[in-house]
Order: sequence, then C-alpha cells, then structure tokens
Amino acid sequence: MRIGVLTGGGDCPGLNAVIRAVVRKGVATYGHEFVGFQDGWKGPLEGLSKPLGIAEVRGILPRGGTILGSSRTNPFKIENGVERIKDNLAEQGVDALIAIGGEDTLGVATKLYELGVHVIGVPKTIDNDLGATDYTFGFDTAVNIAMEAIDRLHTTAESHHRTLVVEVMGRHAGWIALHAGLAGGANVILLPERNFDVEQVAGYVEKRFQHQYAPIVVVAEGAQPLEGQMVLQNQELDAFGHVRLGGIGQWLAEQLEAKTGKEARTVVLGHIQRGGTPTAFDRVLATRLGLQAIDAAHEGDWGKMVAMQSTDIVRVPLAEATRELKTVPLERYAEAEVFFGS
Ligand code: F6P
Repeated sequence: MRIGVLTGGGDCPGLNAVIRAVVRKGVATYGHEFVGFQDGWKGPLEGLSKPLGIAEVRGILPRGGTILGSSRTNPFKIENGVERIKDNLAEQGVDALIAIGGEDTLGVATKLYELGVHVIGVPKTIDNDLGATDYTFGFDTAVNIAMEAIDRLHTTAESHHRTLVVEVMGRHAGWIALHAGLAGGANVILLPERNFDVEQVAGYVEKRFQHQYAPIVVVAEGAQPLEGQMVLQNQELDAFGHVRLGGIGQWLAEQLEAKTGKEARTVVLGHIQRGGTPTAFDRVLATRLGLQAIDAAHEGDWGKMVAMQSTDIVRVPLAEATRELKTVPLERYAEAEVFFGS
C-alpha cells in the first residue's frame, strides 16, 4: 500500500514520534510506502506532498512540532474540496490516509471516511479534550511546562507580595489548568467547566496573603466569570468556527488588584505550552498510537481512531471519538478545591 500521512490543527509535542512509529513499522514490518502530505488537509487538497521514508524519520523522536507542517484548513469549507482530495490521492497513487489531529482534523477524517476515503485517525492535542481516549499526547508535556512555570512564579510572587495570575491554554476544557494547577500547588484554579465568582476568588487571594504566602491563580483561557461574557482576543472565527481565546488572565488580575489592594500581574503561557521536546510519557504514548495506527491501516480497518483506554491502545470508530468534547468532570474539580485559599 501507499499511505499518506498528515498532521492537522494546532501542533503539539509527540507528532513526530507518531510519524516515526508509523513509517518505521510500516516499512520494516509490512513493506508499505509512505508519502507525507504537508500542512494538514491543505496537503491532499492542493497535492502538496514530500517523500516520507526511513531516512526522513531518523532522529525526529524527541523533536517538537511536526516535520509535515500543520494548518487549520477545512476542505469542507472549500469548493469541491472533497473531490480535489480524492483526485489528488488517486493522482499520487495513495490508497489510504493516516490523519493525526484533534477534534477538527478528525472531524474531517470522519466525514471523508463516510464518503469512501480510507482513513485512520490518531488523536493529538495538548487540550486532552477528545472523547474515547483517556489521554492525548502533548497534554503531559504542556502540563509539565505549565507546572514548571508555576513553580518558578511562586518564588518571585512571594518576594514581591504579589498575586500572579497564570493563563493557560486548553480551549473549552480545563484539563491543562486543573493538572498544572494541582501539580504546581496553585492557590486557586479556574476552569471553563464552572463559571467563577470573582469575589470568592478575591477572598481566596486575601486568605493566602494572611498566611504570608503570595497566591498563584491558574486560569484556563476559556474560563468565564459568573456574570458577563467570555473575554476574547477577537471575534474572528477560524475555518472550523472557533474563536481565538485569551485575555481572561489580564481581566482577572485587574479585578483582583482592585478588590484586594495588592498588586496583581498576569503571565500568559501561550504557545510555550506547545513547543519543544515531548516528555517521556508523550513519546511512549505517541509511539504506541502510531504502531496501532499502522496495524489498523495494514488490516484495512478504516474509519477507526486509535485510542488509549486505561493502559491499552485500542481502536474506536472515528465518529464516536469526535461526537463530543471531553471536559473536566466536576468531581475532579472538587478534588482541587480542597486546596483553594489555604
Ligand atoms: O487546541 C490547541 C490550542 O493550543 C488551544 O489550547 C488554543 O486555544 C489554540 O490551540 C490556539 O490556537 P492557535 O495556535 O491557532 O492560536
């Protein structure tokens, strides 16, 4: 078989580890050939491809980003997008696709499969918000980066008796905020899953100062106050209808400074959470998902997404995986709340 590989959506650490595992096992064990489609769905849409063999994947296991490039191109928003993809696959002699992506990329994969394209999906996102898989690779790396930032912020916040508000990514799911905040000993953690009361947050912050410690407030970019609107960077939508989040940290710091009379500053971690080398956990997870993906392709088990369930790597229907976002259950938030303000 000649198999196309692509990576779509926001990049994350571990994408290269998947590509490597797919190609290494695909060539050595099964004798398949590969072609790398560039920049997500833009690759098969515009016929942009490059060779992908053992030589191309040497040394990429620890490298962040993706050697194939990525984009948020949505072929269903482009005239004749599906026909163009089918034509380009036929022209390049490609029998099947392995699509590595999040909710949007795999949503496209699901629809293409229903339209007769041979596709296997591999879940990735630092947000950890995909259904049907316990973890996505990239998440552990992002959490560790945010945790290290929080560790560092504790000492400077305490030296200056300031509140430091740390805004983390995660879109409409609070997984990064919850895990990084718990691991970093944040004073308060605010998630999109539950609107927060700014008065209560100010109360936690004051209590922390009373204990002679400076508070670190971790806020997910998608968190919202009880009353009022989510703070957005702008109102523009991407090709998948998403707004760009960000800005809640600054808003909150201003509110906390006004309410407590103590200086409050904001740190927005942004794309630092997505860059650089993957953790060991993410390298292993990405590798195992890649191995299962090439097995599924070899067996012609199309329309499946590989997933981590407990410690096993399994296959689930793509449609099931993309049905709904996996958000933080409130019981998990309650575990973190025990530590707020103390
Ligand atoms: O989905 C991954 C993610 O990093 C989100 O956490 C964040 O909201 C979004 O992508 C940012 O996207 P971009 O890099 O396109 O600004």
